[in-house]
Amino acid sequence: MKLQKRLKDSLSERELASLVGAYDVVGDIAIIIIPEKLEPKERLIAEAILDSNRKIGVVAKRAGNYGGEFRTIPLQILAGENRKETEVKEFGIRLLVNPETVYYSVRSGNERRRIASLVEEGELVLVLFSGIAPFPLIISKYSKAESVVGIEKNPQAHAYGIQNISRNKNQKNIQLYPGDVREVLPTLTAAYDRVIMPLPTRGEEFLSCALQVLKPNGFLHFYDMQRPELFPQSVEKIVGACSALNRVVLSSTITRCGHCAPGSYRICIDARIS
Ligand SMILES: C[S@@+](CC[C@H](N)C(=O)[O-])C[C@H]1O[C@@H](n2cnc3c(N)ncnc32)[C@H](O)[C@@H]1O
Repeated sequence: MKLQKRLKDSLSERELASLVGAYDVVGDIAIIIIPEKLEPKERLIAEAILDSNRKIGVVAKRAGNYGGEFRTIPLQILAGENRKETEVKEFGIRLLVNPETVYYSVRSGNERRRIASLVEEGELVLVLFSGIAPFPLIISKYSKAESVVGIEKNPQAHAYGIQNISRNKNQKNIQLYPGDVREVLPTLTAAYDRVIMPLPTRGEEFLSCALQVLKPNGFLHFYDMQRPELFPQSVEKIVGACSALNRVVLSSTITRCGHCAPGSYRICIDARIS
């Protein structure tokens, strides 16, 4: 409301409406989507965001879409300090992040906390695609897992993961490995009680190698992007990968944990595998 008040003399009601919900806040960086028509007024809008919220130090616009293997997004600073690094707090965990060079979504915090609440005492947990390590840190803090292993290919995300572990005290059961899941997994000798796969765009490509390190009766958390009428197809992806390895999906539940395109959801399938 404050922002709309500040802009009411510079923007029409329609223009103002197109800005509603148009920005995320990552740490103290506001990341805004500027509709093409409003580009001539983008600096004015950015200054208004900066003035309307004392906790924001930088306003940047999305200068493209999430893309590439590392799911990163180009950012252009419009107002405030000239930096793209910030610190985020998620359920008491401190995470250093540059949202331009690594993937991190503030919107997935509740989902990470949900997964942590499922972890039982003594479990060996594997987080594929661990990014800047929010899953390992939240699981380590809120469960009694024996160990949490993360694997991440983006070297900058892995480096932030290492820093984030040392920035949070008493997180001694986490081990992070840099590299491609397909190359790192065969070098690890353990089998895991629980494998988490937060790569909804291409996760199915890695189902086979994830299942090969999952213990019998272990839990798999598989993320996908899907329309509700096609949710069964997401479960079928796991069923298909299991049958190629003579394993069976014993139970599965689906949790909606975000929106993607209109009518499409980010979902997590929690599956118990024989
Ligand atoms: C959607 S992000 C999730 C990051 C993190 N788990 C989180 O919740 O913020 C997916 C991550 O997978 C990484 N990635 C993509 N392909 C990979 C691969 N083949 N091996 C390891 N990591 C990969 C990307 O760099 C990115 O950090």
